[in-house]
Amino acid sequence: MTETIAVVPGDGIGREVTPAAREVLAAVDPDFEFETAEAGDEVAEETGEPLPDATRDLVASADATLFGAAGETAADVILPLRRAVESFANVRPVRAYPGTDALHPDTDLVFVRENTEGVYAGHETEIAPGVTTLTRVVTEAASEEIARYGFEYAADREKSVTIAHKANVMRTTDGLFLETAEAVADEFDVPYDDALMDALAMHLVQRPEEYDVVVCPNLAGDVLSDLAAGLVGGLGLLPSANVGPERGVFEPVHGTAPDIAGDGVANPSAAMLSAALLLEYLGHDRAGERVRSAVEQTLSTGPHTPDLGGSATTRDVTDAVLASLADSEK
Ligand code: NAI
Ligand code: MG
Repeated sequence: MTETIAVVPGDGIGREVTPAAREVLAAVDPDFEFETAEAGDEVAEETGEPLPDATRDLVASADATLFGAAGETAADVILPLRRAVESFANVRPVRAYPGTDALHPDTDLVFVRENTEGVYAGHETEIAPGVTTLTRVVTEAASEEIARYGFEYAADREKSVTIAHKANVMRTTDGLFLETAEAVADEFDVPYDDALMDALAMHLVQRPEEYDVVVCPNLAGDVLSDLAAGLVGGLGLLPSANVGPERGVFEPVHGTAPDIAGDGVANPSAAMLSAALLLEYLGHDRAGERVRSAVEQTLSTGPHTPDLGGSATTRDVTDAVLASLADSEK
């Protein structure tokens, strides 16, 4: 069955790494039909609209989307794209990849972050001059959905779960989050514990290798996953998935890298690893594994782009990954 993949490169190095990831997708699954669309600063300059309706409609109807990065208009692009696929989970695997300077080389964990509510629900008010408030929204439905996704993810991979929260202070909202997640945990044969998010931040710095799948409320997941990204020192290496019930948007964690955009030396690894997450989301597990292995092999042997201390181009790395894929079994 042919599946439609929307390709939205965006701006800057998004235009360099997204085509490279697309080549990798085409190499492992010839039954994909690709449709490319515009988003970001450049199209906004031409049309006044950072996310044209045609792009949003394509993302809302495609089986999955590969997104690059947008510049100053990033929030105007990525938030509506997440809504277009009704994304409830933001999934960020953080691994110490070979060939990189990770503080803890054993780091291999995944953040499963609630993607719709918490303090990011958008209910902020200035109630009087100099006095502002924010309403934190936590629902049983969204907490259950994110916990179930996290436990299923851990069960599939024989991993454990840590539920991050601050229910000792935010007793009502995070109390509901924790209670709901624990009820979901009872349905699974998956080892789990819970952790106060502040203490967890410290433990992640000291012993990240002790964690597998971390299920978090929205803000905690945003902050903790950036902290963990710092531990493995590789912004150019980290992929992410915005998962919805029927479709998803897959994107590198990095932005448009204006300092190197146009030079042809961006590291395509994060975009390719995002493509691996896309493959797994669509059920092409073996293809996803092949892409991940080919990227890891290239990282461990080189060639390396300048961010990893080498002098290779995006093209050189892409060719090496494609060659490694050609050698691997379907
Ligand atoms: P950035 O991730 O674009 O760049 C930070 C540093 O990392 C730069 O020195 C850059 O050269 C390097 N870098 C990032 N990805 C790399 C790669 N694949 N290969 C080699 N080096 C890489 O973050 P920055 O500079 O804070 O933001 C630049 C622009 O990107 C801003 O306009 C921001 O709004 C946007 N942005 C967009 C995001 C999105 O679309 N999801 C996410 C983050 C930033
Ligand atoms: Mg963030």
